[in-house]
Amino acid sequence: MSFDAFLSLSQKRIEAYLASVLSTNIASESQLQAALEYTVLGGGKRVRPLLAYGAAQAVSKTEIDLRLIDAAAAAVELIHCYSLVHDDLPSMDNDALRRGRPTCHIAFGESTAVLAGDALLSLAFETLAMGPYPDDVKTQMTIALARASGAVGMVGGQAIDLSLVSSAPSLEELESMHQLKTGAMIQASIQLGALAAGANTDVLSALMAYGKAIGLAFQVQDDILDVVADTSELGKHQGADAALDKPTYVSLLGLEGARCKLRELHEAAKTALSKAPGNAQTLESLADYIVHRTY
Ligand code: IPE
Ligand code: IPE
Ligand code: MG
Ligand code: MG
Ligand code: MG
Repeated sequence: MSFDAFLSLSQKRIEAYLASVLSTNIASESQLQAALEYTVLGGGKRVRPLLAYGAAQAVSKTEIDLRLIDAAAAAVELIHCYSLVHDDLPSMDNDALRRGRPTCHIAFGESTAVLAGDALLSLAFETLAMGPYPDDVKTQMTIALARASGAVGMVGGQAIDLSLVSSAPSLEELESMHQLKTGAMIQASIQLGALAAGANTDVLSALMAYGKAIGLAFQVQDDILDVVADTSELGKHQGADAALDKPTYVSLLGLEGARCKLRELHEAAKTALSKAPGNAQTLESLADYIVHRTY
C-alpha cells in the first residue's frame, strides 16, 4: 500500500471509530455533546493514531489486524483533542482558531470547553479499558498513557510552557519542556500501538527511541510553522508564539538553527528504526511526513 493510501485509509478508519465512541457515550447535556463532536470530529491530521497503526506494523513481519489497534489509537487522539481545547483557552494560549475553525471556547463558551476537555480525558481511559488487550498489557498501556498525559508528561510540559513566557530558557530547558508537552504523547502513541500488537521489550525500546526523536521533531516543526506558514493553511493563527512571547526553537536558535535541529532529529528517528523487526516503512514515511508537513 502506498503511504498516501495508508494516510487516507487510516484517517478515515480512526474518524469512524471516534464517531462510534462518541455516539455510544452521549453526554447528559446537549451543548456538551455538541462541543465533544465539534472537537473530536473536526479535522486534524490524526498523527498520533497514525503512529499507533504504524508502530503496530513495525512489531513483526506478520500482517497485523488493525482492529486490535483502534482503541489504543482512539485513546491517544482523545487526549490530544482535549489538550488542544485546553491549550487554546484564554488562560493558556488564548487562541481563537483551531483546525481552520473557531476554537471550542469561542464556539461553545469557556465553561463548556473546560468540561469538554475533562470529559475527553475520561473518555480516553474508558476507550482504552474497553480495548481487546490482555489484562497485563492493558495495565501497562494505562500506566504509560497516564504518565505521558499527566503532570510528569504533557500537563507538566504545558505548565512549564506557561511559566517560561517572556523568558530566555537554556536549550536544555526548552528541549525538556518540548519533550514533555508534545514528545511524551507522541512517544506514548507509538508505545501503545506497539503494545497493542504484542511488542516485547527489545522491540519497544527501539520504537521508543524513534518516538523520542520524532516527538521532539514534531514540536520543532510546530515552532517553525508558527513563523513560516500561512494562517489559512495552518488552520491556526500564524505568529501566535511571538505574539505571546513564547520561547521556541526558532526564538532560541533562529530559523536555520531550528531546521538543522529538525534534520538531526529526523536522522535519529530513522536510525532507530533499523532495529525494528517488522515493516518499519510506514513509520519511516511518517517521520518524513512529520518533518516536511506544512500544517
Ligand atoms: C498541534 O498538534 C499541537 C501540538 C502538540 C504541537 P497537531 O499538529 O497534531 O494538531 P492536529 O491534531 O493535526 O490539529
Ligand atoms: C501545544 O503546543 C502542546 C499541547 C499539549 C497541546 P502549542 O501551544 O505550540 O500548540 P499549538 O501551536 O497551539 O497547536
Ligand atoms: Mg501552548
Ligand atoms: Mg497553543
Ligand atoms: Mg505551536
